[in-house]
Amino acid sequence: MKILIIGSGGRENAIASAIKKSKKETEIYCAPGNGGTAEIAANVPIKQDDIKGLLSFALENKIDLTVVGPEIPLSMGIADKFTAAGLKIFGPDRKASLLESSKKFAKDFLRKYNIKTAEYESFTNFQDAQNFVKQKKHPLVIKASGLAAGKGVFISENAEESKKILDSIFNGKIFGKSGETVVIEDYIEGFELSYMIVADGASYKPLITSMDYKKIGDGDAGENTGGMGAVTPNPYVSEDLVDKINKTVIEPALEGLKKEGIKYKGILYAGLMIKGDEIYVLEFNVRFGDPETQAILIRLESDIIDLFLSVINENLKDYKLIFDDNKSICLVLASGGYPKDYKAGYEIFFDKKLHNRDQISESGAEYYIFHAGTKKINEKYFTDGGRVLNICAKGKGAEIADIVYDNAEKINFENKYCRKDIGKIYVRP
Ligand code: GLY
Repeated sequence: MKILIIGSGGRENAIASAIKKSKKETEIYCAPGNGGTAEIAANVPIKQDDIKGLLSFALENKIDLTVVGPEIPLSMGIADKFTAAGLKIFGPDRKASLLESSKKFAKDFLRKYNIKTAEYESFTNFQDAQNFVKQKKHPLVIKASGLAAGKGVFISENAEESKKILDSIFNGKIFGKSGETVVIEDYIEGFELSYMIVADGASYKPLITSMDYKKIGDGDAGENTGGMGAVTPNPYVSEDLVDKINKTVIEPALEGLKKEGIKYKGILYAGLMIKGDEIYVLEFNVRFGDPETQAILIRLESDIIDLFLSVINENLKDYKLIFDDNKSICLVLASGGYPKDYKAGYEIFFDKKLHNRDQISESGAEYYIFHAGTKKINEKYFTDGGRVLNICAKGKGAEIADIVYDNAEKINFENKYCRKDIGKIYVRP
């Protein structure tokens, strides 16, 4: 079976590795891929936003299944184009992807279907937005409505700060078209949680719970990032809470999508804020989270190819989604300076035996190294992005954090940075 994975992060390396574990015979391609996918797939130099190029490649090479990692190709309608050409593709269509690519669409949708979310207004010009924030109590959350690579959300403490943010978005155009509409919402204080389900347009199944470490610094200090680590399960999430999220967020959202004429097929990722007994939706993503997926997929026991096909063929209800009962951690090794400016192109020194293969520690725990921002040149690996490598482990207890950090010590590149607290508080019994 020929499978094409679109994307170049740790998430895509983990998806490729899960596909490799299938009993089916596979030939995997990754566009554009990274240094890690180069080990288990053929990297194809086509960018994730070159939908025409990706479609031609898939048709010419008779790809049986395409799996889309990132949001950009989804928001550009890759699923619509592939499906129209008779190709099987995992990921929601363009209209469904508006849940992530337009914050205004998502907020209006939540309001329309009575799903709890912070009070908000949206604006298309500086003056109206500025008049609004002047009379609002702070803090406020200011969001560019379009895609902004995780950088489009600001928490503003006062009217002066709000003015500066709005000026940079509307007048400075820091997000280009993505900032033409701005959503301003009340700030909700609580505990943040990401929750993912997979849906086929008729039924859905929750993935195991996970927790993402969003901030750059230990103890959740500093700037927001794409994610500096993840653990599964999320130790703060009880079965009752999962039940409540399904009943008050996921099911009404899937029903609402149906009423809008949207058949939602793929992963739905809800970014939630839990405040007392209330569950607020902060945002939706229409794809697997990164790095949560790396920690989730190493615990997947059922065949991932069958999962993708059951969604595409709309028979998810017959698919048995099975995860093992371990705990897992994913630690991100990043380039120093990320999420702001950083230098790339440094050689990575590590034992190549570690790549992509399950390694068994003395305690019996399994660990994995996935690549994110890396590239392979003449059998050497170089840093090629902000988030460089993912070290993941699964096992029964606290030893998995030690395994991950022992491996982090053995991998070297210039300006290597990682948080020191990933999984330590949460996974230790
Ligand atoms: N880790 C957060 C995200 O994938 O959006």
